[in-house]
Amino acid sequence: MSHLVAPSVLSANFANLQSDIELINNSQADWFHVDVMDGVFVPNISFGFPVIKALQKYAKKPLDVHLMIVEPDRYAQAFKDAGAAVLSVHIEACPHLHRSIQNIKNLGMKAGVAINPHTNVSLLADVIADIDVVCLMSVNPGFGGQKFIENTYDKVIRLKQLITEKNSKALIEIDGGVDLNNYKKLLSCGADVLVAGNTVFGSANPVQTIAALKTV
Ligand code: DX5
Ligand code: ZN
Repeated sequence: MSHLVAPSVLSANFANLQSDIELINNSQADWFHVDVMDGVFVPNISFGFPVIKALQKYAKKPLDVHLMIVEPDRYAQAFKDAGAAVLSVHIEACPHLHRSIQNIKNLGMKAGVAINPHTNVSLLADVIADIDVVCLMSVNPGFGGQKFIENTYDKVIRLKQLITEKNSKALIEIDGGVDLNNYKKLLSCGADVLVAGNTVFGSANPVQTIAALKTV
């Protein structure tokens, strides 16, 4: 499988969201990455259901929803209704992660598990076979435009080993600080999905930048 690119809507222009959605629709991007923050799990608040429903209305590509919220199970059905194709919950926010994963899958979504920079990938060993996407945070979640944490390369390699060992089909998604200088090394370590916010929307030509991130 060739890798996927998921521009992060967090860095889009919310005063003219429709135009940025069309931009992604007409690019080589594969998914919309949608960051939901509650101000409790992370020190920032982003947006909620009205914005995601507006996205769903115009988006022609799957919505990859990344929940940076406490008690995500309470809202899984609502995110399904809002159009999520992939729903990722944080391992650090889920005391019953296996149940959370099954719940997401039973609702008809792909199950993602996001892990913070300090969390060891080995903690996924007993659920990796049930996971569709592992969202490896390469920054501390909460804000776009942060500096990439170099230890991520090593984590991607270790996660890839775990996935192979356990016969899992999980995709490895890298989230935070992905740019044109580090994406190739991430792919060579085993990354499957590249999230990019600032790199795409902060560039002069986002469509061209997405095309560049699709190049191997
Ligand atoms: C960070 C979010 C990321 C963020 C990525 O908390 O989960 O998805 O939007 O933005 P960049 O690519 O700008 O680091
Ligand atoms: Zn994210």
